[in-house]
Amino acid sequence: MNVSRFGKKMAVQSGIGQLMDDLGAARLQAQEVLMLGGGNPAHIPDVDQCLRRSMTTLLADGNRFEHAVGSYDPPEGSAEFIEAVAHLLRNRFGWGIERRNIALTSGSQLAFFILFNLFAGDYEDGTKKRILFPLIPEYIGYCDVGLTCDFFTAQRPKIEFIDEHTFKYHIDFDRLAIGADIGAICVSRPTNPTGNVLTNAELKRLSDLALSKGIPLIVDNAYGMPFPNIVFTEAEPRWNENTILCMSLSKLGLPGVRTGIVIARPQVIEMIARVNAVMSLAPGGVGPALLTDLVRSGRIIDLAHDVVQPFYRRKMQEAVRQIHDCLTGIDYRIHQPEGAFFVWLWFPNLPITSQQLYERLKQRHVLVVPGQYFFPGLTEPWSHTNECLRVNYAQDHQVVFAGIQIIADEVKRAYACG
Ligand SMILES: Cc1ncc(COP(=O)(O)O)c(C=O)c1O
Repeated sequence: MNVSRFGKKMAVQSGIGQLMDDLGAARLQAQEVLMLGGGNPAHIPDVDQCLRRSMTTLLADGNRFEHAVGSYDPPEGSAEFIEAVAHLLRNRFGWGIERRNIALTSGSQLAFFILFNLFAGDYEDGTKKRILFPLIPEYIGYCDVGLTCDFFTAQRPKIEFIDEHTFKYHIDFDRLAIGADIGAICVSRPTNPTGNVLTNAELKRLSDLALSKGIPLIVDNAYGMPFPNIVFTEAEPRWNENTILCMSLSKLGLPGVRTGIVIARPQVIEMIARVNAVMSLAPGGVGPALLTDLVRSGRIIDLAHDVVQPFYRRKMQEAVRQIHDCLTGIDYRIHQPEGAFFVWLWFPNLPITSQQLYERLKQRHVLVVPGQYFFPGLTEPWSHTNECLRVNYAQDHQVVFAGIQIIADEVKRAYACG
């Protein structure tokens, strides 16, 4: 079928599209598939219970339930939820945040689509700007959201070798060039796929650089503080008028309600609300209605800190232990897991590509994500991009363990026979 440039750009198969298709197909398959692929959070019993209680309370309150499902919110989203979030952030971090600093979107993925296309692409003066990822690997979901071509730019990270099997990427500030063609800088913190958490000093340096260039710093806080707080290091969140902080309810355990939260200067918030109106009239009201009381009382911070964070920390430690046990004897490296719920594995000089490894694992009913999708904007060739895998460890222990055993088996076979 003949379709427009928009159709060719957005409706062809993308990395994220392939991933979501594989996940969907796996769910339908009779044979059990070990799902270490997508970004699904775990079902944490205490969180599930808390959400169920919130839903019961909401259902019992005729006015609030009927409003949540029976009325459109304004295009920036539920006023009472936004007020509660503003209050929480003011209290918790002392940020000068008011209602006019917050807009909701139908999932934070949509926020990135809007923000990236606001700051990159063709400008009226004939110039063209890009989004800069100062640290890659970076989130697969960014790769295809640009409406024009040549939309991203990125540079190779510095690699710190922490011990024989552990490494960490750092921003190479000495090589970080921010020219007139950069419209905004973006980092995910914690980073999907690596679990890296930029230090407070690195974040401040990026923030100062962005400010000095007169461009915004977009920080993707989908796994960060104060919720869901899947952070295992000492890291403080940062916000100022030049920062656009994107949060989400998904990784707390609510990907189904599609609620993203953008915190930015009022000018940006107004633009988000206008795009919301065009694209979807208004963000959904059920997620905000479900969580308003938890946010208003501050209990969401305790839930994240006391339940969610220890849950994922334990799972991370188990997964890392299993990887070390299963991969002994071969050359492998794990990115230091500092947050989110992925381990990023690097197999130096792997004789097959990570895509081939992905295919072989899929044959054995293990779904992971091959590394090459996580380098948006990198134009120079780098063999490293074909030597890595992202493994989600949020699923049940038995599933993660069985998956890691099969990964180890296939990687050993690849090193032995190619
Ligand atoms: C780093 C990161 N940002 C954003 C998103 C989008 O999440 P959602 O649209 O569910 O809020 C994800 C989802 O996996 C993610 O991992």
